[in-house]
Amino acid sequence: MTVIYPGSFDPITNGHIDIIERCSKKFNRVIVSVLNNSSKETLFTVEERVDMIEKSLEGYDNIEVDSFSGLLIDYAKEKEAKLIVRGLRAVSDFEYEMQMALINKSLYQDLETFFFIASSKYSFLSSSVVKEVSSHGGDVKDLVPDIVEKALNEKFIKDFY
Ligand code: PNS
Repeated sequence: MTVIYPGSFDPITNGHIDIIERCSKKFNRVIVSVLNNSSKETLFTVEERVDMIEKSLEGYDNIEVDSFSGLLIDYAKEKEAKLIVRGLRAVSDFEYEMQMALINKSLYQDLETFFFIASSKYSFLSSSVVKEVSSHGGDVKDLVPDIVEKALNEKFIKDFY
């Protein structure tokens, strides 16, 4: 079975990686797909985000990395996927996630959304928190893959000088 794990991934964190690795053990094919939304300001370009995800997930033969624009349901149809995976960290995520799952289902009845509960060690982690910490010179080594840590350092060090 093919599943899509969509997101902004600006940038990917160890919390996302944990969900992707768990997905790859349960499903035949996992497509990690980065939303390409030109109206949303992001720290990293889509190409940078895709490249960092690919490099963070080398060696898995059932994980693919891609990007999409437009509606997620149209992308799912194009990929012949009927399952979306999302992570839930806390109750505060639930309302938004339920709304998304319901709107997606109302537009594409055959589509289901599966939720993976984030591992407790990552329940506080988000791309926004990582950017906030890194932008103030904090250490994000344990929160993101090495390649992301390096990319963040390069982005923010450039801003300092
Ligand atoms: O990592 P994020 O920002 O929480 O991911 C949100 C994402 C990309 C899954 C969501 O915004 C999305 O699917 N966008 C595509 C547009 C769409 O289909 N919108 C309808 C559902 S709200």
